[in-house]
Amino acid sequence: MSIYGDYIKSVIRTVPDWPQEGVNFRDITPLLQNSAAFRKLIDSFVHRYQEMQLDAIAAIDARGFIIGAPVAYELGCSFVPVRKKGKLPFQTISQTYTLEYGQAEVEMHADAFRDGDRILIMDDLIATGGTMLAAAELIKRSHGQVVETAAIVDLPDLGGSQKVRDAGYSVFAVCS
Ligand code: PRP
Ligand code: HPA
Repeated sequence: MSIYGDYIKSVIRTVPDWPQEGVNFRDITPLLQNSAAFRKLIDSFVHRYQEMQLDAIAAIDARGFIIGAPVAYELGCSFVPVRKKGKLPFQTISQTYTLEYGQAEVEMHADAFRDGDRILIMDDLIATGGTMLAAAELIKRSHGQVVETAAIVDLPDLGGSQKVRDAGYSVFAVCS
């Protein structure tokens, strides 16, 4: 957790019973609307990663893009979109993962980075960990080095971040 964790948590809204009954949806839009909070969030990621010599940030479609792009801009490294299936026009590599009901797939361009490049994966939130793990496996399969996986929010009760750690990846979340 970051030193701004409690503050960032305080500007994330919980919407009960969305998108379905029994789910408490953690909504980051109030955080995005609050320019001071958004700046603190981006600065805390930049501070954490500025000495880590990253080659690229791989950010996950769609909410991962919101944080991945400004962090890549500040660090002066590449930005690589990891997209939902069927959105990328060039040659892709893809990874399937399991959802609560059925399967999903993420894709990345085959020429997104070079072998051995140091990659940070970013998304807004880790729930079951399926999306983050699929992105990490995609990068590993294309011979990138996953330096860390990072999110604004971890939902530890769902066990996702533990699953990502058990697979051998480092996980950082600003708040839980
Ligand atoms: C949400 C969230 C993460 C993922 C987390 O994305 O932004 O990417 O789910 O869930 P998991 O840990 O159980 O895989 P969503 O698929 O809703 O896409 P969106 O960003 O396009 O809204
Ligand atoms: N908030 C945002 N995205 C999500 C959530 C949530 O609570 N759960 C799964 N994806």
